[in-house]
Amino acid sequence: MLNNINPVKTKAWQKLQTHFETVKSQHMRQMFESDPQRFSKFSILNDEILLDYSKNRINEQSVELLIEFAKECKLESAIEAMFKGEKINETEGRAVLHTALRNFTDKELIHEDVNILNLIRKEQDKMKSFTQKLHSGDWKGHSGKKITQIVNIGIGGSDLGPVMVTEALKPYWIKGIETYYVSNVDGAHIFETLKKLDHERCLFMIASKTFTTQETMTNADTAKKWLIEKYNGVDSVVKSHFVALSTNTEAVRSYGIDPKNMFEFWDWVGGRFSLWSSIGLSIACTIGYENYESLLRGAEKMDKHFRNSDFKNNMPVMLALLGIWYNNFFKCETHSILCYDQYLHRFAAYLQQGDMESNGKSVDRNGKSIDYQTGSIIWGEPGTNGQHAFYQLIHQGTKLIPSDFIAAAIPHHHLQDHHNKLLANFFAQTEALMKGKSESEVLEEIKDLAPEKRDKILPYKVFKGNIPSNSILINKLSPEVMGSLVALYEHKIFVQGILFNVYSFDQWGVQLGKQVAQGILPELENDLQIDSHLSSTNGLINTFKKFRNG
Ligand code: F6P
Repeated sequence: MLNNINPVKTKAWQKLQTHFETVKSQHMRQMFESDPQRFSKFSILNDEILLDYSKNRINEQSVELLIEFAKECKLESAIEAMFKGEKINETEGRAVLHTALRNFTDKELIHEDVNILNLIRKEQDKMKSFTQKLHSGDWKGHSGKKITQIVNIGIGGSDLGPVMVTEALKPYWIKGIETYYVSNVDGAHIFETLKKLDHERCLFMIASKTFTTQETMTNADTAKKWLIEKYNGVDSVVKSHFVALSTNTEAVRSYGIDPKNMFEFWDWVGGRFSLWSSIGLSIACTIGYENYESLLRGAEKMDKHFRNSDFKNNMPVMLALLGIWYNNFFKCETHSILCYDQYLHRFAAYLQQGDMESNGKSVDRNGKSIDYQTGSIIWGEPGTNGQHAFYQLIHQGTKLIPSDFIAAAIPHHHLQDHHNKLLANFFAQTEALMKGKSESEVLEEIKDLAPEKRDKILPYKVFKGNIPSNSILINKLSPEVMGSLVALYEHKIFVQGILFNVYSFDQWGVQLGKQVAQGILPELENDLQIDSHLSSTNGLINTFKKFRNG
């Protein structure tokens, strides 16, 4: 059981509030000038990942108080509760054990009287042998041809993790394999994907924890219909072209997929934490099982770091505490994820679900309405593209936006000139955000202008600076480092949920929209005028009907 501590009522929170008043107007420029040790004090190196958090509006006392806060909220025991499999997802009555999926220990992990590590190994062996059969051509399509195209049909956690990782690890793709992801119920998604497929060589992976999700089942139905039509009505083709990734064996069976072709996982794996389970089958088939295992091992490495490091040297804990510092004291609404790595172009989208579905909550663990801020709005695009789009607002807008900058030292290509330019921007941006540009610096720059022109342009060229950022520099975006990076953010999200005193592993908030849509769907199947909703919704539906009828 998790504790129920209102963060705002802790002694450390009150101390942080007082401390904030002294720190909030200090400029990081002065902080760096007065302390040459700032980088070594406020950075953590864990093997192939460096977290530099020195460009934050903090001093040593801030870190001490933030850690005191985490301790007062009993973070240590919450971490243990998660790893040991206590039912910390209390609103769904479930344990939270995605870490078990990457636990390579030979010890036991008993959950409800079963050593779940045995269950996991069995399923992983099945995934491994399937992956090998697919690559060797032993698993064949209905007409005997080798499978070369994989289509993962899933949404949310059954899509975002796998698609993000396969994109990130593109340099590791097995030659000859093409992988596609279909998530949106918008027919355009499956329609455009089917155009690229060879029905004799494609394999559909229906990825759904519940196997009831409307979007996924609709796309699966369309894919099934398309396949059977291509094979002139032969229903049995499903056997060689469809597999299921799910917890729901009965639904898989009644859908017509033989449970032998189902890769199982369990209710203690949250959807948004499921890429480590059989939901990761598309990853394994795309990059090979060995690389997939390295991904898991990288995550395990971060799990150990998280579980065993003291808070000051603990990357997920420090990222979480800094996030709370800005979210709850500076009152920042958003946090941006800026990856200086094209391969990580889906990372921010993936973290949107991870973070916002987990901590976008307003009822605490006592069932009481919350009167402080919880989860941030997460957003971002890869650098340097973002620089030419929205950085203006970060540099000179009226909102304070903390960011995480992520880059790899070693690229996956030989275009060193590109990489130096990319990294120069990565290093430059955090420095520019921190330092800004003072009036005197601008004046020096424009000293040759006529005085009238100079005075007019001066205020526009000044940057206040003092904009916080974390820099995460990794060695190379290998499967192992990728695993560590994802686990780093998973644990950051977990820590924040504990400290916000919310339940991070449910997602009741996505239900309402689904229910309303279910009510509206039959109303769209005829041309009758609607008056049962808000006037706005009635007006929209009735206009839609008018438009579609030309
Ligand atoms: O959007 C809600 C949600 O339940 C997510 O948490 C989940 O990842 C997604 O739907 C997909 O669910 P499933 O894997 O059961 O199809």
